[in-house]
Parts: sequence; C-alpha cells; structure tokens
Amino acid sequence: MAAPVTRDEELELEIESLAYGGNGVARLDGYVVFVRRGLPGDRVRARVTKVKRSHAEALATDVLRAGPHRVEAPCIHFPACGGCRFQDLAYETQLEQKHSQVYDALQRLGGIAEPPLQEIVPCEPEIFHYRNKVEYSFTQTPEGPALGFHKAGRWDEVLNLEKCWLTTDVGNGVRDAVRDWAREEGLAPYSQTDNTGYLRHLVVREGRNTGQALIQLVTAPGEHFEPGYFVDVVRRFPQVRSVHWSINDRPAEVTNLPTKLLWGEEWIEEEIGGLRFRVRPNAFLQTNTAMAEKLYGLAAEAAGLTGSETVWDLYCGIGTIGLTLARSSLTVWGIEVSEESVACALENAEINGITNAAFFAGNVGQVVEELVERSGAPDVVVVDPPRAGLAGKALRHLGRLGAPRLVYVSCNPTTLAGDVKTLRGEYGYELLNVTPVDMFPHTPHVESVALLQQA
Ligand SMILES: C[S@@+](CC[C@H](N)C(=O)[O-])C[C@H]1O[C@@H](n2cnc3c(N)ncnc32)[C@H](O)[C@@H]1O
Repeated sequence: MAAPVTRDEELELEIESLAYGGNGVARLDGYVVFVRRGLPGDRVRARVTKVKRSHAEALATDVLRAGPHRVEAPCIHFPACGGCRFQDLAYETQLEQKHSQVYDALQRLGGIAEPPLQEIVPCEPEIFHYRNKVEYSFTQTPEGPALGFHKAGRWDEVLNLEKCWLTTDVGNGVRDAVRDWAREEGLAPYSQTDNTGYLRHLVVREGRNTGQALIQLVTAPGEHFEPGYFVDVVRRFPQVRSVHWSINDRPAEVTNLPTKLLWGEEWIEEEIGGLRFRVRPNAFLQTNTAMAEKLYGLAAEAAGLTGSETVWDLYCGIGTIGLTLARSSLTVWGIEVSEESVACALENAEINGITNAAFFAGNVGQVVEELVERSGAPDVVVVDPPRAGLAGKALRHLGRLGAPRLVYVSCNPTTLAGDVKTLRGEYGYELLNVTPVDMFPHTPHVESVALLQQA
C-alpha cells in the first residue's frame, strides 16, 4: 500500500507522544508520522521531510495549539542548539515519556507482555548544570573566532554560545576566556569544508565533587600558539589542574586523540560514592556525576552481593562500577577496550586501597572465555555497553556462560530490549526488574538498570 503522504506536503497533526529519540508521534489513519519539534498534546502544522512505506518524518513549522506540557525554555539558544531538545517540555512530562519509551521498547522489541518496570528515577539535585564534560567546537563569526555546539540537525554549522545551561560557571567561563584568547592571538577556526584554519575543539571536564577541571585544546597540525600563554589564560580559573593539547590531522571531528600535557597533573580526580577516581583526557566517565552515584547504587542493589561473589564488570571504563562493588564481593574482574581507561581503573583500585579488583584491556566479545579461565565462573556479571548494546559475539558468549545474575546497565532501551529478548528466549534468563534513570534532562537519552536471573 502506498504511503498516504508525499514529501514536502504540509499537514496538520495532533502529537500523541514522544518516540524514543525525541520526535513527536502523530497518526494519519494509523500511518505514523514522526514530527521533529512536536510535543505531546500539540496541534502542529508540519512539512513532510521523508516518506517510507511504514512511516514518514516531518518538521513542525508552526504550533497551532500548544499542548498542556509546554513550558518556557530558559536558554536563549533554544531551539537552535542541538544540545537540548526538550527544554520546553515540563520535566514531569519528560520523565513520563522516558518511562513509557523504556516500557514500549521492552514490550515491542523485547516481546515482554508486561515489562517489570519500576518508577523512573528523576535527575537530582538539579535538572540544569549537570554535565561534568563539555566539548565545544570553534567557529568563525563576524566578531572573530567563537565556540559553541552544532546547530540542531547540522554537522556543518556551529552556534556561537553565550551560556550553556547544562554546564557550570567554570564550563561557561573557560569557554569565554578561550574565545577571547583566540581573538587576541588572531587564530582562525578550522573549517572542515576546505581543510583550512587551526582551532578545532575545546574540551572542559570537571570533577564535580572535587572542584578540579581538565582542559584539552584540539588544533590542526603545527604549533601556532604560545602554550605557556594559553596555560596562563585557563589557569585564571583556580579549578584548572590539568591542561592538554591534541593535534587532529584528519577531517573527522574527534577529540579522543593522544594528548600532550601542557601543564599540571596528567589527570583530575572525581569522587563518586566515597571513592576517588582518576580521570584522564580520553577516559570514559558518566557525564552526570550526581546521577552516576545513583546509577551505581541501583547496580549494586541489583547485584545483591553478600561478600562471597566473583563479579565481572564488563565495559568497565575507569572501573567505577567494579570498584563500587568490590567492597561487598570476593573479587572483581573488569574488561574495557580503552587502554587509557584500564590504566585509570588500575590506578583507581590502588588509590582507594582496593586489592580484590583486577582490570584488563580487551574486547568483551573476544575475551569472555579467557576471563573464565582466570577468574573462574562469575556469580554476577555487570555489563554497561555503549549504545549499540551487547554486540552479537558478546551476547552469545555471555548467554552461553549463563552467570546466575546479570545486571545490565543500558544507555539505549531499544538495544537493551533486543538483548533481553535473546537472553530470555535463547539462554534461559528471566527479567526480574528494570529501573529507568534520568541522567540527562532535556535530551532524549534514558539509562536503565535491568536485573536478569537464570530461571
Ligand atoms: C557506557 S561506558 C561504561 C563505562 C563504565 N561502566 C562507567 O560507568 O563509567 C561503555 C564503555 O565500554 C567501552 N567499550 C566499548 N566497546 C567495548 C568492547 N567491545 N569491549 C570492551 N569495552 C568496550 C567504552 O570504551 C566505554 O568505556
């Protein structure tokens, strides 16, 4: 059957809900239209941007009747900025929508008629200023170089930021100081279009519980600035403890690059759940420190440790979950693909005086069998994979291993649901409960902690 709409057609639509990823869901006689910038309860005029047999995509061009959940967005860059999608949606509604997205994913993709879903854990203590890491891109403006985020839906346009509501005064202040420095030094932002210019990115990471900040400047090749002066500029912020410089000689916009230490310690520290964690420029750290503590608390609760268990922490990053659990288990074994993160995890065990945790660099899909030989069969396996979930091999190995308890920390309910379906259908696991956690207000992201047990 042909789709009932055509590209560029203008439609009037009622938005029913938000789909995972953040687009509004509307229906035309059952045919689904995903509407960017449409919020639940809105009646909008929308232009169709893509048509498929199963659904269409559209962009809301006018709100004809605002839904009851719309609020005033505080940020002057909203909605042009690609960072926050839902500042104009009441926080309670954001929570309800995220909760139902996890429920729907488990039902539709996981094949579970009544998913055992707990209440969503709201973000606390603040729904703004929660990020401990921001990555700014340099851009050219009529006033000179500036720094900001990509415009919503645009990889090629960067918004000149005055204030970001997701970072702190330090994150905003360092950005402005570096912008002024770039203008003073007469340095040109890099342009991906013609591979010209010099300044590419600025990364600011903060230990929110320690008050320490790490700065990473990313440029194109060549030393076209005086490193000592750049250090002086960022050291005007007493929080700055570690200043790095990276060169990116490729067009791709990445910041996970080797770094040269310009000043200070190689790392900063963060404190989570009473433990100190060393964070180096390329190491993974959950970007909302306060909520990471809650997330790890839920993982610990799900693990249900008594002190005698062998625990695996797979996709362990800098060892945060494993070290949190080490206090109540016999041994912890962590696997992580980034060698820099593994180095941090080993240091973190040492600085916290934890002697029953070991961490290894490796790809989870490839090392499960080897790990069993070292550690013996685990009693509890905790996995915290990237958005793609447990890639085929990892899923098969873990399924066959069949640890009695599997705690799945997920940043993507759709891959969680798919993996849960396989673990239930093919490997005899039962899903006991899932708790959604809102770590990232105003964005479409939702975390979940799921507990699976061998039936
Ligand atoms: C969502 S993070 C979780 C990190 C950690 N559990 C935490 O809470 O900070 C996922 C981690 O998996 C790592 N990773 C990605 N693919 C991997 C793989 N195939 N094998 C091992 N680690 C991987 C990433 O480097 C990243 O540190």
